[in-house]
Amino acid sequence: MRTFLADGFRNVDAVADDDKIVRCLNFLDNLPDVRAYKERSIDTLRLRPDCRVADVACGLGFDLLRLHRHVPDGRVIGFDLSSDLVAAARRLVAGNDGIEVRQADAHAIDEPEGTYDAVRIDRSLQHLDDPKRVVSEMARIARSGGYVSASEPDWQTFRLTAGDAAGERLKAEWVAGFRNPGIGGALVDVLADNGLEIVDHFVQPLLVNQFNDADVVFDIQENARRCVERGIVSRDQAAATLNSLRASDAAGRFWALLSIHTVTGRKH
Ligand SMILES: C[S@@+](CC[C@H](N)C(=O)[O-])C[C@H]1O[C@@H](n2cnc3c(N)ncnc32)[C@H](O)[C@@H]1O
Repeated sequence: MRTFLADGFRNVDAVADDDKIVRCLNFLDNLPDVRAYKERSIDTLRLRPDCRVADVACGLGFDLLRLHRHVPDGRVIGFDLSSDLVAAARRLVAGNDGIEVRQADAHAIDEPEGTYDAVRIDRSLQHLDDPKRVVSEMARIARSGGYVSASEPDWQTFRLTAGDAAGERLKAEWVAGFRNPGIGGALVDVLADNGLEIVDHFVQPLLVNQFNDADVVFDIQENARRCVERGIVSRDQAAATLNSLRASDAAGRFWALLSIHTVTGRKH
């Protein structure tokens, strides 16, 4: 089974091609748009140097290091379902006593109520079975007066420069591959429904303007291959759409755009 980025993050340990997952996470983490929303989302947590912070579904652990810079006298705990990614995150933070990485399912975090000053999740609710339950867990482990933040894409805003009908079908299929494609736009309600007072909400555009870069993030070629396999578009239609995307790239006209919402709430 070939690795597909729309659903591969649900169970990273089971995917055939770990490198593809790691390449995507690394690539995204180096994009200025991504760095910008991550730093700004951390600012919304109003951290003090001695705070205890949880990063739920921490992936390779980049944000553990970012968070720790804000809480040099505190603690940062990362949780992730994947043993492969937990191992990678542990390697990244090795030697840093203020950071710990644990393997855990975000739907049931083994921590007492009110343990953390701040709890965040980043681009992961889009993949999870029950995002409402995860946010309720995040709210549970936050202390009264603490902050809970989520940064998630709204795939309903996804744009790709291939206006033809086959291109639209490919795009719709990619978006449908996510468990919760509209979660970015639902975050305010999901946090508020968990009793959190909304204190920040901002949207960061993620603009990618080269075909090869967009392929690393949006898995354009694998998506097209799957769509052909499933009979959603013909082989010729998929090839024509890919050629048109490559031609717009060669002409310096390619772009892909996605909105990422960050919503932060305060626990009463
Ligand atoms: C797109 S990655 C985001 C990683 C990281 N937050 C970042 O910004 O780079 C999604 C992460 O969710 C994790 N994940 C998926 N299902 C999970 C679950 N049920 N509980 C905890 N983590 C989960 C994956 O292993 C992966 O690390």
